[in-house]
Amino acid sequence: MPSAEDGWAFETRQIRAGYKADPGWGANVPPIAQSAAFVYPSGEDAAARFMLDAPGHTYTRVNNPSAAALERRIADLEGGVGALALASGQAATTLAVLGVARAGDHVVSSASLYGATYTLFASTLRDLGIAFTFVQDPTDLDEWRAAVRPETRAFFGESIPNPRGDVLDFAGVAGVAHEAGVPLIVDNTIATPYLVRPIEHGADIVVHSATKYLAGHGSAVAGLIVDGGTFDWAAHAGKYPQLTSAEHSGFAGTDFAEKFGRRAFIQRTRSKLAADLGPAIAPFTAFLVLQGSRRCRCGWTGTCRTRRRWRRGWTPTTRCSACTTRDCRPRRGTTCSSATCRGARPRCWRSTSTAAPRPGGGSSRPWSCSTTCRTSATSGRWSCTRRRRRTCR
Ligand SMILES: Cc1ncc(COP(=O)(O)O)c(C=O)c1O
Repeated sequence: MPSAEDGWAFETRQIRAGYKADPGWGANVPPIAQSAAFVYPSGEDAAARFMLDAPGHTYTRVNNPSAAALERRIADLEGGVGALALASGQAATTLAVLGVARAGDHVVSSASLYGATYTLFASTLRDLGIAFTFVQDPTDLDEWRAAVRPETRAFFGESIPNPRGDVLDFAGVAGVAHEAGVPLIVDNTIATPYLVRPIEHGADIVVHSATKYLAGHGSAVAGLIVDGGTFDWAAHAGKYPQLTSAEHSGFAGTDFAEKFGRRAFIQRTRSKLAADLGPAIAPFTAFLVLQGSRRCRCGWTGTCRTRRRWRRGWTPTTRCSACTTRDCRPRRGTTCSSATCRGARPRCWRSTSTAAPRPGGGSSRPWSCSTTCRTSATSGRWSCTRRRRRTCR
């Protein structure tokens, strides 16, 4: 099946990675494996699968063919060694943090976070005994450094934080995390692997709310954890006994770092945390996210277009001067095409305000306009050109 390792382009992998037409029917699209459990060839084989000594599916709370196809695809697009699909983005963040931090441990997080992630950290996980320090200015690497404690077990940030949009300095923050001997976890929901792959810039673990742009159609709630396989757990064995000792792993005397090497984190998160806590993705949901990921490049390009407009101060209610139609915004260099105001003078579509609120929240910068609006001598219609700089009305 096409993979990054074999040199296939991103656009091919978003359609093909993670799934090879099944040998039975030759189905081109991953089928929905709507089954709770699976048939084992023998009792010995079942025991070996449950003890992680043999490959094969066991039970849909832990693994499932539809979920596995989605996991392989997103791991491939993000450049990770493995992934775990879950019931929601919140489940992915929760399990990613619980995979590295236990009661008494501490996590340093950017304060620029999706609201529910903030409350997850500041109340629910805190109540379970994990302490958090929130870095108020995530661009200040010294603030990250100063927050580190002996019991720190991870750094956390969002690539393009929801809603503030202040992009994380992956390499800088990963550098400080690695100096402190801990992994960097990045929520890449808003950027998607089409725009940025945090693992390529130093992140060790990536989480997603697949509900948003990975699925792209708004028909499913889902999440994923991707393991970059980059963090050397064994080199920091004292901090991560759950991953590096048979005694503390909580799973049948398994030393995950020894047995699974670079895949230790994702394998334990699946076999121990997903199995114990139960936030499994439904096979049908995995299918829906896979369907969305096939068209993600177009969807994600559309997202970029929208975000570029936001940066320019566009608001969905902008309208031209004479128009009563909502959002009749004429494109630069064209006249307004709305039937109710055709030919009327187009209003500059950059914001006139020095502090216009952006959709989705966050602050905006003052804009001045470089668009000049003129009327045509022949048609009498107005058009906009970018001739000279002037202030917006
Ligand atoms: C950046 C980010 N992370 C996580 C989540 C949580 O995802 P879910 O709603 O799939 O649980 C969201 C949801 O909006 C989000 O925007």
